[in-house]
Amino acid sequence: MYNAPITDHRLPVTDYRIPINRAFSKQSTHYDETDYANDILTDLREQVYAHVSLFMNPGSRILELNAGTGIDALYFAERGHTVLATDISDGMIAQIKKKIRERDHGDRLSCRQLSYDELHQLEGRKFDYVFSNFGGLNCINDLSSVSRHLPSLLTPGAYVTWVIMPPVCLWELGGVLKGHGAKALRRFHRHGTLSHLEGEYFRTYYHTASKVRAALGSHFHLVKSEGLAAISPPPHHGAFPKRNRRLYSFLRSVDKLVRHSIPFNRWADHIVLTFRYVGS
Ligand SMILES: C[S@@+](CC[C@H](N)C(=O)[O-])C[C@H]1O[C@@H](n2cnc3c(N)ncnc32)[C@H](O)[C@@H]1O
Repeated sequence: MYNAPITDHRLPVTDYRIPINRAFSKQSTHYDETDYANDILTDLREQVYAHVSLFMNPGSRILELNAGTGIDALYFAERGHTVLATDISDGMIAQIKKKIRERDHGDRLSCRQLSYDELHQLEGRKFDYVFSNFGGLNCINDLSSVSRHLPSLLTPGAYVTWVIMPPVCLWELGGVLKGHGAKALRRFHRHGTLSHLEGEYFRTYYHTASKVRAALGSHFHLVKSEGLAAISPPPHHGAFPKRNRRLYSFLRSVDKLVRHSIPFNRWADHIVLTFRYVGS
């Protein structure tokens, strides 16, 4: 997620999902435009697709969590998979519905407004892949409230790929040297950081790979992890590639060399974690 965090810890006592729905619904109307204009995001999405392609079998049934406007759902549906795209936000769901209306994917692309901690509502359905991209799961602290629903929804041998923001991002930590301490250290707050997006405030939580592993439990084996923008700048520096073309491509090539190894598959702007479900 590329919102501007502030370090005020007050938050009104209410359903945590209400401000999230409001913020992302406001963002939904200009989300695609901003996303496609950001060269870094484009590169990182392609990196995520390359990662997923190692595990996704042809004709997979995909459950997408926090699908946003459906950019990835559409990508997978266009490649012959069947996708149920879910999201909490009215606005994001409206954007997915628009894509479904405008393009003909038969029944390969469908959507449902659903919070990822309410996946029990899908009981009776089976999926081969559960996918969550670009930090949607950073909007919740207790990942087990999501993962506990997965075994009843998955086929044996199914895969789960979650792309989340970890606490350590070297590029952001570099901000300490520039005197931007509060922003640089925002990911380390034990009780989450108050994020400010489109005039709404909600908490963001940064998850380590071990926290994700613990939430999924022993029936899920980690099969691959890699860093997104481990050395290169994160997406909120969207203008960097155009202004510093050579430096950016050098940093991306260093990323490519190191992103599969410790610590760069743990310390990055986002990390991509893929697990195989070994339960029955
Ligand atoms: C940064 S956007 C990422 C969207 C999309 N995955 C992408 O790659 O463009 C985060 C998304 O998480 C969704 N989200 C946040 N909390 C959620 C929840 N509890 N249940 C479902 N979706 C949620 C938001 O509505 C938003 O669409």
